[in-house]
Amino acid sequence: MGMLDHWQPVALSRNLRQRPLGLTVAGAQVALFRTAGGAPAAVSDVCPHRRLKLSAGTVVNNRLLCKYHGWTFDACGRGESPGTPKMTACTTSYEVREAHGLVWLKTRDSAPEFPAINGDNYFPICTLEHAVPAPLELAVDNFNEIEHSGTVHDTFGYDLARMSEVQVRVNATADSVHVENAGPTKSLNRLFAWLIGVRRGDTFHDHWVTRFSPVYSVFDHWWTAPDGAREARVRWRLYIFFVPQDDKTTRVFSVTFAKSRYPGPAGGLRLFRGLMRREIDREVRADVSMLHHMAAYDTSIEGLKLSRFDKVLGLTRERIDRIYRGAPAGRRALA
Ligand code: FES
Ligand SMILES: [Fe+2]
Repeated sequence: MGMLDHWQPVALSRNLRQRPLGLTVAGAQVALFRTAGGAPAAVSDVCPHRRLKLSAGTVVNNRLLCKYHGWTFDACGRGESPGTPKMTACTTSYEVREAHGLVWLKTRDSAPEFPAINGDNYFPICTLEHAVPAPLELAVDNFNEIEHSGTVHDTFGYDLARMSEVQVRVNATADSVHVENAGPTKSLNRLFAWLIGVRRGDTFHDHWVTRFSPVYSVFDHWWTAPDGAREARVRWRLYIFFVPQDDKTTRVFSVTFAKSRYPGPAGGLRLFRGLMRREIDREVRADVSMLHHMAAYDTSIEGLKLSRFDKVLGLTRERIDRIYRGAPAGRRALA
């Protein structure tokens, strides 16, 4: 399987309106549009006539009309030329779905499983998109390691002075990598800590599993007393999808849920949804800002002085190559 054979998110639903969107997904130029009925559709963004971007055109009824000479294409890529009606002018089209506030696509001739995003009694908080200025592997490395949480993050992470106490457990299967971290929480904003019931010195638990069709990690964040006897009132679950735009930029789509033990509908989370959304946005922006400052964007790990927090780097690279990029075993694929 190649990269476009996996179901992956490519845009926020709310960003796809009447105007088509021109995107690059894993190096492929894609025009995303909504038919007159509102259904999302995707075709190659390169007009087969003379290569104008179809995303520069407009939607007329259910067809995307090329701005240059007026050829039109339906959601299946079937083209019509007003000037040469008998000409067949098909283009590549993609299978498209809309779920969890995102538009997803894949090639038409693959049959991967759609990623399981289940609320599991969690309340939906937000769906966000961020552009990360780094290749896929470096974006995944950042989210799959918690040593940086002592310095980079304000909420989800460990006290830098006690980072040596953090326990890290890694388990891998052929198609997933599981990590469990537990250690002294960093000190949180007082009001926030009080609201969610976190006390100084509590243990922060950060578990995640990373899968590779498409490449995404599912994080669970929660706090307990150091002896485990008391748990804070709110738990978070984040699904982070990593979608390479090209070999320099990765688009990160996050779908966040939370669970609260406060009484009342949705545990009061409806009230705090805006604040929580802002918090997630701030934490992801903090990651993005680090990736602006890399001295090199080489994805190789040879020659790096890796720590006990970096055990997954080799595991994720092998699975990205084999499962997501479909590279022959033992050979790294090009981005
Ligand atoms: S380039 Fe699209 S119709 Fe001519
Ligand atoms: Fe981070």
